Order: sequence, then structure tokens, then C-alpha cells
Amino acid sequence: MSLIVQATPEAIAQAAERLRAGGLVALPTETVYGLGADATNDRAVAAIFEAKGRPTFNPVIVHVATRAQAEEIVDFDIRARLLAELFWPGPLTMILPRKEGSAVSLLCSAGLPTVAVRCPSHPVARQLITALGRPIAAPSANASGTLSPTTPQHVAQSLGEKAGMILAGGKAAVGLESTVVDLSGAVPVMLRPGGVTLDELQMHLGEVQVELEPVNDKPKSPGQLLRHYAPRTALRLHAVDVREGEALLAFGSLKFMGMQGGGFAKQKLPDGWLMNLSETGDLNEAAANVFAMLHALDECGATTIAVMNIPDTGLGLAINDRLKRAAGAQAASPQE
Ligand code: TXA
Ligand code: MG
Repeated sequence: MSLIVQATPEAIAQAAERLRAGGLVALPTETVYGLGADATNDRAVAAIFEAKGRPTFNPVIVHVATRAQAEEIVDFDIRARLLAELFWPGPLTMILPRKEGSAVSLLCSAGLPTVAVRCPSHPVARQLITALGRPIAAPSANASGTLSPTTPQHVAQSLGEKAGMILAGGKAAVGLESTVVDLSGAVPVMLRPGGVTLDELQMHLGEVQVELEPVNDKPKSPGQLLRHYAPRTALRLHAVDVREGEALLAFGSLKFMGMQGGGFAKQKLPDGWLMNLSETGDLNEAAANVFAMLHALDECGATTIAVMNIPDTGLGLAINDRLKRAAGAQAASPQE
């Protein structure tokens, strides 16, 4: 059997069998591809950490097919019910207190009293969870610290045989990981910006704190401590021109984007060295493209990827968060 398998009903049934037996399956979701295991099986969840090279202090998101399934894992309050009503299925992860007697492996919580739950909208993810009849633990399906995968090919490149089986379900539509909101305290805290924007959360919850970086050595989201989303090539953000040896990740019009030595980027850059997140400046389109374009530019042979400015509003906040982490990661430690 080849590693990448089109997600037919037979392949989904086969993947569910594999999960039931404690194996791993990479699955498509609307945000990014995930590396899934039966969330109630300790050894299977441990195998995720092993395959990704992920530190065990970093908890994983538990994926469910329905709100009722989530309510067997965590204690919902009125805010969680409202957000589930509004944004599920979809790119929103909620951190809630772990329910007493929950069947989910303690490894998913990595020692925290909470569990992160998400109900994805991708039909293949939903069918797989339903076929398994149990929740699926799944971080992004990439080696720890590298770019998240938005296609089955990205998963194969990053994890190879370690992914077990890759269910192919097209290019991820959102393209960025889910928004993570911590609802375990009195005031909701957004720990990671994503497909559901801060504006949307504030509109429905009122006050929402934002904590994208750990405020002390006890981060609310352990993943924040780690090197993240990094290509191998260096990034230079807020570029207003392109320098010698640089590739360009553009956003919007290229009319005035020049080369430092003279000439326009559009005419001077070699084939494959220029990619535009969205020619019309559409942030949804840019989010869907950002990881795939970083993956592609990472291969082109440039010394650095210059990145044009992207507005810090709506989905732009999430795109800029990932770009900043990718740019900071080359120098940062500790590494995942
Ligand atoms: O869109 C997504 O969320 C994708 C798809 C596959 O669903 N998953 C994903 O998982 O991005 P991962 O493991 O790459 O990122 C999950 C983040 C990590 O930063 C982790 O530290 C944090 O969520 N997290 C998970 N459980 C948590 C918990 N109980 N408390 C605080 N942070 C948690
Ligand atoms: Mg990840």
C-alpha cells in the first residue's frame, strides 16, 4: 500500500481500523493536516509524540465529531456552548477543564488539568472520527518545529513512513491552524490566532485577553515556548524591496516592488522565486496559501525569503503570528 491514499469510504474504514489497533493516520482537516491517534489509547497517543519528535510536555488537541462527544471529555460552560454553537464545526479549539472520569489519555493534557477540544468541519475528518467512534488526538502532521502541512505531499515530505497512512482530502481550505481560546479561567484568553478571528471572539464573549507569548516560565500553552512553523531558509519581514539572493513572498500589488540593485521584482526574479499570497490583497486567500508558498520558496535555493507587509487585522493577525514565529525561529531556542 502506498503511503498517500485517496479518502474513499473504503480507505476511511481502513484508517479507522488502523486507529482502533493503536496505529497512526494522517488526516485532512480544514485548517492543516493532522497526525491522528485514538485519543483514549495511551500508547497510540505516545506514538504521536515519537513520530513528530514532539516534547511530551506539549499537549495535543482532541478532535470530536459532535459537541456531545466533547462534553464527555471536558466540562462545558455557557461560553463554550455559545462558541460551539457559532463556530463548530470549524477552526476553533477550546481549552476547558478535563471532566472527571474522561476516557481521554492523560498524555493529551501533558499534565495540565485541561483538555483542548475541536470539532473540525472537513468531511473526511468527521467521517473518520465517526467511524472510529472515539475522539482523535491530533497535532499538525509535521516533524516538530517545522512548517504545518496543508497538502498530503507536505505530510509525506515531513514524516514519511512515520505517518503510518496519509488520507488525502485535498488542499486545506483555511491553511492556518485553528484559533486556540482558553476558557478554563474567568476571562477567556486567546493563545493562538487562527481561522476564527479575535474580533469574532470579542463580539460574542466581550473581554478576551490575548497571550500569544508566554508571560512567564509557566506558559498557558506549552507550544508557545517552542520553535515553530519554521522553514529552513531565513525570512525577512516587512520587506519594501528585494535584495541579492532573496526570493519574494508577496501580498497584493507588485507594481512598485523593486530590486535593490534596480528593476522590478516581477521582471527580475527567477522562475519559482516569486509567489503572491493574494494578488488582490484578500487575507482569506493569503491564509490558505501561506504554508504551501513557504514550503515551495524554501526549496527554490534562495538565501532569504523577503516577505511583504501584511495588515495586522482579521486573519492577518494569524498570518503575521506564523510569519513572526517562522522568522524568529532560526535564531531562537530551545528548539522543538
Ligand atoms: O488546526 C489545528 O489546530 C491543527 C489541526 C490538526 O486540528 N492542530 C494543531 O495542533 O495545530 P498542534 O499540536 O500543532 O497545536 C496545538 C497547540 C499547541 O501549541 C499546544 O501547546 C496547545 O495547542 N494546547 C493543546 N492542548 C492544550 C491545553 N490543554 N492547554 C494549553 N494549550 C494547549
Ligand atoms: Mg503544530
